[in-house]
Amino acid sequence: MSADPFHLAWFTPFKVPAWKSPWAQDTPFTWLNGQYYVDMARNLERAGFDFMMFEDSTLVSDTYGGSMENDLKHGLHSPKGDPVPLLPMLAQATKHMGFIATMSTSFYPPFILARVMATMDHLTQGRVGWNVVTSSEDLAAQNYGIDHLLQHDERYVMAEEFITVAKALWDSWEDGAIVADRETGYLADHTKVHPIHHEGKYFKVRGPLNLPAGPQHYPTICQAGGSPMGRDFASRHANVLLATPSGVDAMKEYRDDIRSRAVAQGRAADDVKVMFIVQPVLGETEADAQALARRRYELTQDQIETILGIMSITTEVDFKQFDLDQPLPADVTTNGHQSGLDQFRKGAEGKTIREALMGRQTEVLPLIGTPASVAEQMDEVMEAVGGDGFLIRGEPVRTHSRRYVDEIASGLAPELRKRGLIRSDYTEPTLKANLGAF
Ligand SMILES: Cc1cc2nc3c(=O)[nH]c(=O)nc-3n(C[C@H](O)[C@H](O)[C@H](O)COP(=O)(O)O)c2cc1C
Repeated sequence: MSADPFHLAWFTPFKVPAWKSPWAQDTPFTWLNGQYYVDMARNLERAGFDFMMFEDSTLVSDTYGGSMENDLKHGLHSPKGDPVPLLPMLAQATKHMGFIATMSTSFYPPFILARVMATMDHLTQGRVGWNVVTSSEDLAAQNYGIDHLLQHDERYVMAEEFITVAKALWDSWEDGAIVADRETGYLADHTKVHPIHHEGKYFKVRGPLNLPAGPQHYPTICQAGGSPMGRDFASRHANVLLATPSGVDAMKEYRDDIRSRAVAQGRAADDVKVMFIVQPVLGETEADAQALARRRYELTQDQIETILGIMSITTEVDFKQFDLDQPLPADVTTNGHQSGLDQFRKGAEGKTIREALMGRQTEVLPLIGTPASVAEQMDEVMEAVGGDGFLIRGEPVRTHSRRYVDEIASGLAPELRKRGLIRSDYTEPTLKANLGAF
């Protein structure tokens, strides 16, 4: 028995590819011109991917050890390009695949965001999405004149008002408002364009938007928060959700929970696709793949600095202060990335920090093997979970290189396609409609 077809996507920052890889070529110096990502997009479209999703953050962090050294030495959260202008470039180089950029409700004014997204939806003919985040870092907030982010749950209350405003702006032009009638001399019919006069707790926006919404009307909405407030928000608004619950049972529980929350909001369960993050390790033989995975998960000093550095940035807790041979102190809390800290703590129960790092898993479950055997594992997992697909993140800790992208696009994806598990063509014109097709 095979699972129904599922969606396949890639999750990445607009960041340097694996620069220590022997296959990095000149990319550590040239990636910001976007060509690496253009090649990647073409390759992934040929393979049948639904979309690329670009995460984002806007800080150079000195949380780890009180210095920017670790962030910049390992290129953790910086340098990082803004994915928004990259999206139309990628769409121009492809025909069907979708592209999603992250923008924060804590930092953007809703009018600018609604306008940028509507413009990009037109430019790409309906192939863009917005990953709605509330952001986790005070250091980023301080780039926008904000000393401290709002408390975690209040950020979602603000995000709710933000998206209400954005949707009202996208609704502010009725269909058919552009008449371009040479006889009467009207380009746009002013009776079909309406101010929104929004006055809320966080935003005051007059409207209307100064252009009509794009082909998707609302861009594809993506979300990734795993806390109860995050799940509620996602089930109200998201077309697609990124998730990292650990193991098949937790994946199924997560997906079922989101689907029932969506139904409680009056939506169809299938309107929200829950996609799970994986980092397949592929080899020509099972033994090759296992050996490679062992090397990838080896706890070198570089790996420790990378993992603890990322934890420090997203939780704004300095992980350098802890003795790695002791458990994580129980009183460590965060106003940042709560689900990230919770997940680490869950995996660290009864272990020292060093032991927890060794067994640490940032994907939903390990996928290690030949392209054919990993395709079979993905099939089994989807059958057990019920759907809706996977996001590839890259190799454990090492992110992606041209070589790794090709292993997925030319090795794994054809094996999935042969089994009827991913799309063999794009039947719909827009990202949202392609996501809704199965
Ligand atoms: C898989 C995943 C990807 C995320 N990507 C981003 C991102 O690109 N930028 C960002 O600011 N936050 C990102 N987040 C954080 C969440 O979107 C969220 O704003 C924050 O962590 C608080 O949500 P939570 O506590 O509900 O998880 C991500 C979270 C997860 C689980």
